[in-house]
Amino acid sequence: MDNDVLRQAPLFSSLDDEAATALRTSMTETGLRRGEVLFHEGDAGDRLYIVIEGKVKLGRSSADGRENLLAILGPGQMFGELSLFDPGPRSATVTAVTDSNFASLTHDDLLKWLDGRPMVANSLLGQLASRLRKANDVVADLVFSDVPGRVAKALIDLADRFGRTADDGVHVHHDLTQEELAQLVGASRETVNKALADFASRGWVRLEPRSVVIHDIERITRRAR
Ligand code: CMP
Repeated sequence: MDNDVLRQAPLFSSLDDEAATALRTSMTETGLRRGEVLFHEGDAGDRLYIVIEGKVKLGRSSADGRENLLAILGPGQMFGELSLFDPGPRSATVTAVTDSNFASLTHDDLLKWLDGRPMVANSLLGQLASRLRKANDVVADLVFSDVPGRVAKALIDLADRFGRTADDGVHVHHDLTQEELAQLVGASRETVNKALADFASRGWVRLEPRSVVIHDIERITRRAR
């Protein structure tokens, strides 16, 4: 297990080395191949996961089979805690976008671990609060922003987490298909492709399969506002 990656997770960020090692011993490692499902929306769940390597998508589907992506998570990010703090079924389906590894902890072990460790509970609350803030932004964007604005915002978010800066711009290997990008933005594939093609024709981005190079991060950031 990669300690540096675990350190980014809110469960670990406030622990000293000794405590982090103790917590790791109660964790189990799991792996998924690209396309495999870890659990489905509606399942009962008793574990929280931290992504060690790879990327997952968190999806929900409508009664008529349409899909929406709540988030793409990568190394150091955590999921699977909602069904503990707000007891109920899993609120999303988690599918590996690339081959991925996770460290997981049962909800019972997590509760024992939090007992008497207010700083760890504090970090977890911080993560939940920031997720709520982000979810509010997504709702506001669905109401107030046009599709190109939402596409630009999604690119910035993916660049922040998965981007690598090179001479020609920020290379973002998001590993998503065009359909998945559209599900993340909450628009049709055609509309999202049109927005991306427009950004490309202006020279702001270069499109590649499952990745994008952002040449002009300033213009994309401005378009995201
Ligand atoms: P749980 O409901 O147990 O299983 C699905 C998980 O997806 C959920 O816990 C959260 O950890 C995570 N999740 C749900 N909604 C979001 C969101 N909007 N952003 C990031 N993660 C989420």
